[in-house]
Amino acid sequence: MEQRIDGIDVRACEQCPELCESRSQIVNGTGTTSGPILFVGEGPGATEDERGEPFVGRSGDVLDEALRDRGLTRRDIRITNCVRCRPPDNRDPTTNELENCRVHLHREIEQVDPELIVTLGKVPSQHLLERDVAVTNEAGSVVEHRIAGTARRVVICVHPAATLYDSSQQDAFESALDEAISIVGHSVGGQSRLSEY
Ligand code: URA
Repeated sequence: MEQRIDGIDVRACEQCPELCESRSQIVNGTGTTSGPILFVGEGPGATEDERGEPFVGRSGDVLDEALRDRGLTRRDIRITNCVRCRPPDNRDPTTNELENCRVHLHREIEQVDPELIVTLGKVPSQHLLERDVAVTNEAGSVVEHRIAGTARRVVICVHPAATLYDSSQQDAFESALDEAISIVGHSVGGQSRLSEY
């Protein structure tokens, strides 16, 4: 079957045989289509696969609460994943699956053209920055990297799920979000620090 793309959304894709078996549907990104922040996770879990939306399970609750605490809703930002189909048994996506889905993620990044990308956890951090990332050490760092043809600012962040299993990750998660919001503040209601970077 051909790939079917509808603007920013993937409607049909059969590039990854194992993911085609394990998914119930393709989970596209949600939220605003014009920046300022794009959050990128790893891939859909069971709840996301069932509901067809990224971050609607327990890690989504953590993310929603953190956004709410900062006066934001999902409509103010965009959320997507490195891969759009649920890997079996919640395993990490393989290198091959990440590569197959990169074109979709890059198309989304090009179209949304966010002022800032926030990578949620190790998989999206390494995938987008194309290097090893020790998230615990680097959380909150602002780095610049060429992504989808353009130099882009990225804030490395702890995955929201990590805060559920290890409460010491909570501070790192919160501080990385504060850093991100302070950089794009002007677009979401505050003072921007973009010119500092
Ligand atoms: N974890 C992710 O990385 N992405 C989701 O959409 C949900 C959980």
